[in-house]
Amino acid sequence: MKQFTGIGQTFEHLRKSAESGLSIGFVPTMGALHDGHLNLIRRSKQENDLTVCSIFVNPIQFNNKEDLAKYPRTLERDSLLLEELGCDIVFVPEADEMYPESEPVDLNLDFGMLDKVMEGKFRPGHFNGVAIVVKKLFDIVQPTRAYFGKKDFQQLAVIKYLVKTLNLPVEIVPCETVRDPDGLAMSSRNTRLSASDRNLAPGIYKVLQKVRMEAGNISVNELLTWAVRKIEEHPGFRVEYLEIADNETLMPVENWDNLARDVAFVAVFVGDVRLIDNIELF
Ligand code: PAF
Repeated sequence: MKQFTGIGQTFEHLRKSAESGLSIGFVPTMGALHDGHLNLIRRSKQENDLTVCSIFVNPIQFNNKEDLAKYPRTLERDSLLLEELGCDIVFVPEADEMYPESEPVDLNLDFGMLDKVMEGKFRPGHFNGVAIVVKKLFDIVQPTRAYFGKKDFQQLAVIKYLVKTLNLPVEIVPCETVRDPDGLAMSSRNTRLSASDRNLAPGIYKVLQKVRMEAGNISVNELLTWAVRKIEEHPGFRVEYLEIADNETLMPVENWDNLARDVAFVAVFVGDVRLIDNIELF
């Protein structure tokens, strides 16, 4: 596996690969790799001639300095995991190369409501930061396909919109959420849970599963009220939002008119660790 840190070097190498007809699969990450990421790498390897992974803790998508500081950085372990899986290139840029002081950091793209609801409401500016870095990474890597997990469903919707609006020549491949055997969605943040919170955290997905079972049987409002109460029965759990929304517009739904498009989304503080999850209701 080759490791690149320079933008120019990465761009040139991959430009030549693309010119010689090789397809490039791309998995952008912020490192602290877990099986969710590794699944994306495996899928990319199956579908492309070359697989590129980027590891970059993107400062401009954190609206909380403490969260950025606490983000786990495990480059050595990540590189070993990628090497074992047969990833071809890992791109690990420095922040001052991605965001040189001389260049304005802006995208000027209107995402409508996509970046204003749910995560967007509680983390203002987050998706703009994600979109900026993903666009830059796409420009550098020039991927044929890029792989994103459905755990970050709203991020996926924003990226699909970015690609469509700017006509970027890349296929976005959504991949299923990978879960621990007890149902907890894999996340780099899980390592920050205390042992007792880790034991209780799968309760979040159990409630989402129940929401899926009951969808259509009782009103949306009643179901949401029940689900919030159920999650908050766990000591130290606080629901930031729990919504049922359309899978494309992400606008909240008030009835079951279009159940096949509905997704339940949740963000929960478990102690001081913020977890998100979702479930498609069809
Ligand atoms: O999902 C992530 O890890 C990040 O938001 C991404 C897509 C790598 C952009 O920094």
